Amino acid sequence: MGCIVSNNQVTPKRESGIHPTHIDVVQSTWPAIACQKERFGVFVYNSFLSREREMRRLFPRMVLEDGEEKFRMDEREVRRHALLVMDGLGLAIDCLQDPDKLHRFLRLVGVRHYRAGVTPDMLEKLYPAIDGALRMLLESRYNKRTRRAWRSFFSYITGVMKVAIMEADAEIQGEKLKCPCR
Ligand code: HEM
Repeated sequence: MGCIVSNNQVTPKRESGIHPTHIDVVQSTWPAIACQKERFGVFVYNSFLSREREMRRLFPRMVLEDGEEKFRMDEREVRRHALLVMDGLGLAIDCLQDPDKLHRFLRLVGVRHYRAGVTPDMLEKLYPAIDGALRMLLESRYNKRTRRAWRSFFSYITGVMKVAIMEADAEIQGEKLKCPCR
């Protein structure tokens, strides 16, 4: 673990746990994605919510019709949400060289997801849609090495978010125990 020394004290410095080669690959492929972020994000959410029906209830503004046969989304809302998520990904990618900042940011995103009703097991469900969008956009550049790097980045993000969600839940459950009237 790397360290910085201040006031004669050794302050442990966090490492992201993402291999530097993976960081390079994610950062070097990101500009090609960022310049088409709306297309990428819309593809991700269309694909995600088409295949994961039980996730649709989390997005009441986005899902207009959720029938057995008919599934319809509000395109404007999909674009709005897609861009928010893409900006979040972009911020995370910008922070890859600053693991403490990255960690703080991802924990915050995790807690917000907890408040939106997202549970830890749901996070992984987004991966097939991300994988498909990367393949669509990067085409031949999405080779084994690039895929592995993005997989590892995604696992890191979801790992930190999961812990933040579990801790936020434990805190709420603890408060409920202290005050049974809640
Ligand atoms: C793992 C990658 C993910 C990233 C980077 C991500 C990022 C974001 C961002 C930046 C926002 C908006 C800002 C905020 O409230 O913090 C957001 C909102 C939200 N996300 Fe995610 N998200 C991810 C995965 C998921 C998954 C897998 C689900 C559902 C199963 C989900 C459900 C939601 C919901 C319900 C909202 C609030 C929507 C609203 O307010 O309209 N997210 N997400």
